[in-house]
Amino acid sequence: MIVRKTASGLLSLCLLLSAVVVWDNWADGVDVSGTTSALTSSGTASSAQTLAQGQYLIQAGNCIACHTARGGAPMAGGRGIETPFGTVYSSNLTPDTETGIGLWNAAHFWRALHHGRSRDGRLLTPAFPYNHTTLISRADADAMFAWLRSLPPVQRSQPPSTLTWPLGTQPALAVWRSLYFKAGSFQARSDRNAEWNRGAYLVQGLGHCAACHSPRNALGASGAVDDLSGGLMPVVNWTAPSLSDNAQTGLAQASLEDIQTLLKTGRAGQHHSSGPMAEVVQYSTQHLSETDLRAMAVYLKSQTTALTLPSTAAQSASMRPVRQDIASRGAHIYEKQCAGCHGEQGQGQPGAYPALAGHRAVQQTDTTNLVQTVLYGGYPPATAGNPRPFGMPPFILTLDDKDIAAVLTHLRSQWGNRAPEVTPLEVNRIRASQGS
Ligand code: HEC
Ligand code: HEC
Ligand code: HEC
Repeated sequence: MIVRKTASGLLSLCLLLSAVVVWDNWADGVDVSGTTSALTSSGTASSAQTLAQGQYLIQAGNCIACHTARGGAPMAGGRGIETPFGTVYSSNLTPDTETGIGLWNAAHFWRALHHGRSRDGRLLTPAFPYNHTTLISRADADAMFAWLRSLPPVQRSQPPSTLTWPLGTQPALAVWRSLYFKAGSFQARSDRNAEWNRGAYLVQGLGHCAACHSPRNALGASGAVDDLSGGLMPVVNWTAPSLSDNAQTGLAQASLEDIQTLLKTGRAGQHHSSGPMAEVVQYSTQHLSETDLRAMAVYLKSQTTALTLPSTAAQSASMRPVRQDIASRGAHIYEKQCAGCHGEQGQGQPGAYPALAGHRAVQQTDTTNLVQTVLYGGYPPATAGNPRPFGMPPFILTLDDKDIAAVLTHLRSQWGNRAPEVTPLEVNRIRASQGS
């Protein structure tokens, strides 16, 4: 009796939960019955101005980086987004009727951005950062749609994902979404000015900065849209530093102009954006207007909390001195392989090679990006403000794990730099993870 009662109780609980999950995911109330056309929701034909605006917003959203395969037609999709659970391929956003958005209307498109659902109602995988695109306004979505519809149609099917079963299935996505996704809209804060709010809209929504700059949980969900506390990007193994911790990026004492310059050119002072951030600058932020970049800078600065950098005295007091054999091995490699560009005293060459002396990035606690740069080289973004950036060669074939650990330890203990030793294990973790 009791068993039967419990069983039926559990059954109704399951049914109730399923109903909640179904309601949560499919009852979005968007009317998608409109006709397929390039008309915007207001019914007017797209003007040149709308198209230009749409293109600009697509750049601000860095949609092109994900929706373009290497060597493929722009926006025709097919780029693999690697996740710890498998690869998801981006879809074709050109107006091809069979494989692209040729049969979509503006409401379908808005629903995809706002609710993460495809034209046929299918739930999309969160490799598409729709927890951010949900904040995009309807007017902006319409302008983007109009621009996409003006592109030449390209026939290219979206390859199926390789997600481990059952993760890519609709029920699994429905449960995931009930846990981690909520359709929303950008809520402007009345205690902040218009510039701050514009910056917040760009950073939290279109720019989806927290998709990389926040930690991901075991089920692949990133933090809240305004969580910029930094995170390790899975699979590609780069650390997107915390933008809220001043010790990591120094945004608190950087001027608004410096932050603007960094996002516009990929370089500010001795700092160069590299790895995945170079791509963000290359495809997205370099194209933004000074007004929007300034708004982003204002918002970013307001999100940086600690004004004090950790005292180097405190850090060096708690540090073990570098062992003699490692020190001389590191110095020797530096002399042979690095000093030609970065200078005998780590002073660099202005405008070409960054100084390593007194460089914050060299002394960061998390050494992932340092190891990445030495193993795979540095490719700063090519931008209008820095069209032919100097690069750094990869050392993966020249130096082994011990060499790289020693030379990085050398950089971190010379010319006034004070940071703990780098171990061969830290180098190996990254070398091994790239399947080389
Ligand atoms: C981090 C990579 C990434 C970024 C950035 C990104 N997308 Fe996507 N997008 C994807 C992936 C992957 C899919 C396919 C998801 C699926 O099929 O489940 C997708 C799907 C879509 C879809 C649904 C298409 C369909 O056929 O159902 C639309 C619409 C879309 N993206 C628009 C955009 C727009 C607009 C932007 C820029 C604001 C953007 N995406 C930025 C990765 C991305
Ligand atoms: C695809 C992942 C990704 C996205 C999206 C992303 N970042 Fe980054 N970001 C990184 C990584 C990785 C680094 C570290 C790069 C390095 O050490 O050069 C970084 C570094 C930075 C830095 C430190 C300076 C630098 O370039 O190294 C700033 C500032 C920054 N990002 C701002 C932003 C803003 C603003 C956005 C949103 C418009 C954004 N990022 C979006 C991955 C990303
Ligand atoms: C041919 C010139 C050249 C050589 C040789 C070279 N580098 Fe670099 N290095 C660069 C350039 C250019 C950059 C900036 C590009 C970037 O960070 O993507 C850079 C960036 C770096 C950074 C990252 C600084 C930052 O801003 O985050 C480190 C660390 C570094 N180099 C260490 C080394 C070490 C260690 C060696 C020797 C094993 C070396 N480099 C050899 C040109 C060089």
